[in-house]
Formats: sequence, C-alpha cells, structure tokens
Amino acid sequence: MPPNNIVLIGFMGAGKSAVGAELARILGRQFCDIDREIEDEFGMSISNIFATKGEAFFRDSEIKMCSRVALYENIVISTGGGCFLSAENAINLSKNGIVFYLQVAIDTALKRIHNDKCRPMLDGCDAENTARLLMARREPIYEHFADFIIDANGSIIETVNLILRDLSKVGEPIPV
Ligand code: S3P
Repeated sequence: MPPNNIVLIGFMGAGKSAVGAELARILGRQFCDIDREIEDEFGMSISNIFATKGEAFFRDSEIKMCSRVALYENIVISTGGGCFLSAENAINLSKNGIVFYLQVAIDTALKRIHNDKCRPMLDGCDAENTARLLMARREPIYEHFADFIIDANGSIIETVNLILRDLSKVGEPIPV
C-alpha cells in the first residue's frame, strides 16, 4: 500500500502546526500534532516537561508517541523540530507517510520564534546563535528524510498550496 499519512518536519518556526491544521482541514483529514499529544498525555506544556522531567524524558515520550501515531492512516501529522533526529521516529513516521520538509531561512525562523517562551531548546542561552547551530546540524537530516522540500517562508496558505501542488503529483485528489 502506498504511504498515506502526510508528515510535516522542519525547524522551529517553520509553521508545521499551523500549516498541518490548515492542510488537514482542506483535505478533510484528521490532524495530529505530536507535541500537543505529548502535552495532553502528561497534562503539561512541553516547556514544563523539559523543566521538570528533562529533555531525555521528552525525547523518550516523543519516540513512544511517534510509534503510536505511525499506526494511524490517512492523517496529517506535525512533528517537533527535533523529532526526526531520532532515526526511530523518522523510520516509523516515514513507513506510512509522505514526508514534507517545511524549509525556512534561519532569519524567518528567528523572526517567528522571537520572544516565544515555549521553545525550551532555546531557553537560557544565546537563542540566535543556538538556533543557527541547531539549524546547521539538522538541515541535512531534514533533507535526507524529505520526500518533498517546501519553501515555508511565506504565509500559511502559501505553504499549504505548495504542499497541495506536490500532493497532486503523487495522485492525491485535491478538493477545489
Ligand atoms: C523542539 C521543537 C519543539 C518541541 C520541543 C523540541 C526541537 O517543537 O518539540 O521544544 O528540538 O527543535 P516546534 O518545532 O514545534 O517548536
């Protein structure tokens, strides 16, 4: 069976959650945001999970959540920016999913996440430098697992339309 989930990956500030929700609405599919599912599971924000239980606990929860979510069919899945750093997550979600890497320039990402208090990876450090370092390290990984690379520097709807254009190439019926 061809992969039928749609999986959005990319750096913080790429718009994965907002684009995923809108894409799911247009396609009439269910939407699943891995970070929101983890927050619901523990009844805490991601920032709180990082602060009270640590990053390793979050990454472990992310792996468990991805393996569960990968079993769904025909849904749109948004991932956190570090999700595909785990080969296990990448393999699980790619097995039954077309992977779209929402690519943004570092300056776009920085503008979008500026003053955002819910990015624990950038807390308590020089956020701009750390973001640049993380982006440089992660970009090759996102590219490696991407079936399609999407320019996500524009608006939510522009990004959604670029995804729809690529989906139509792989035979997804696009509502008019
Ligand atoms: C993370 C990105 C976050 C969230 C967590 C870790 C990362 O998601 O999963 O704070 O390592 O880049 P967003 O990409 O939605 O900000």
